[in-house]
Amino acid sequence: MESAKPEEPATQAATEVKAEVEDEVTPFNIAAASDSGIDYDKLVDKFGCSRMTDELREKIERLTGRAPHRFIRRNIFFCHRDLDIILNRYEQNQLFYLYTGRGPSAEALHLGHTIPFIMTRYMQEAFDVPLVIQITDDEKFMYRPELSQEQVAKMAISNIKDIIAFGFDPEKTFIFLDTEYIKELYPNVTKVQKAVTLNQIKGVFGFNDSDPVGKYAYPPIQAVPSFCNSFPHIFGSRKNVPSLIPCAIDQDPYFRMTRDVAARLKYEKTGTFYSTFFPGLEGMKGKMSSSSLHNTILLTDSAADVKKKINKYAFSGGGATEQEQREKGANLDVDMPYQYLRFFLEDDAELAQIAEDYSTGKMLTGQIKQKLIEVLSTYLKEFQERRKAITDEDVKKFMEVRKINPVPKKFEEARKAKEAAEKLAKEAEAGAGAQ
Ligand code: TRP
Repeated sequence: MESAKPEEPATQAATEVKAEVEDEVTPFNIAAASDSGIDYDKLVDKFGCSRMTDELREKIERLTGRAPHRFIRRNIFFCHRDLDIILNRYEQNQLFYLYTGRGPSAEALHLGHTIPFIMTRYMQEAFDVPLVIQITDDEKFMYRPELSQEQVAKMAISNIKDIIAFGFDPEKTFIFLDTEYIKELYPNVTKVQKAVTLNQIKGVFGFNDSDPVGKYAYPPIQAVPSFCNSFPHIFGSRKNVPSLIPCAIDQDPYFRMTRDVAARLKYEKTGTFYSTFFPGLEGMKGKMSSSSLHNTILLTDSAADVKKKINKYAFSGGGATEQEQREKGANLDVDMPYQYLRFFLEDDAELAQIAEDYSTGKMLTGQIKQKLIEVLSTYLKEFQERRKAITDEDVKKFMEVRKINPVPKKFEEARKAKEAAEKLAKEAEAGAGAQ
């Protein structure tokens, strides 16, 4: 688009990426050219995002008063757009909010789906900010020819219960279904639709002339939850609250477009915070996907399922025999048990020890698999217990269009302290004047 800055190539086709870096990364497909997975370093430059830095990690720690999430410590959330700006604003007690979403295309979520929600939940808690979650029943109906609206509606409710089970704050979280909340979004949707041309949508998303028009119409709908005036029940008449979107980097084409349009509509540009993909069990070449069940661990899987899948399907970077493993050690870069522990094992020291022992052959493939089975079984058991407790009432509560106070407690306290200090100063002045 003409107003795009050079570092933000909004018109660059998501599909073009393939030719240049050989990896394919679009909202619709992810395929690495190499067995060691996507070259994220190249991708950051290609998309024009900014790399995560130690300085930003330290800033997050300072602003939240706690160690950054393991996904941040391990550079799993590895690049961003304007995260620095949003943090600077927050430092000066200026609001932001979180926005993320989910397209309901399967009944049960899998482990890959948990990454943005785990991260978003941490950020909501750490920064004490409001969160909006878009459930794109319209998108999945449009992009999945095999799905009926009834099927999507059913999956949406099930997915919403899963999402609530991540532990979002009911006082600060608004979950909405596109087909229900569209009335509030529509004024902004039409503004975006008016500002974006067919050429631009084709360029960014790679659609062709045989695609249904609804596909072209959808990207503006994913754009507008990043504008705060789409949620008057949260932001009232505030006009300048930026959003921050934690998600996987495949969604960047949507938000490149969104940022470009925001500048022209005089809205705040959304910030983004992107993760790498969660690889499928069979290796680093693709992300985990619901379409291949033995490549996937579902959130509904039992401990026995997890054990079986990991032992049977998890691609190993270890030696083919015990002797070979003892002699040569494992290649961690392609080893799924190790890669999954990076995502799910909390203890940094323990992870480092495993890396050391397994890569040098002191630890065997069976042992690292066993460790992963324990970690994931515990995680899933806890998740499933929370999920079981989620009721239709909870769904209603999170989806109700209701007043939400967007201001972090910390900001309120700072404001009160400042007011009290000002009052004291005034009184002292008045007292001094009376004498
Ligand atoms: N397009 C996303 C999907 O297919 C859903 C989505 C909507 C989303 N809004 C979002 C994802 C914001 C991340 C951030 O699942």
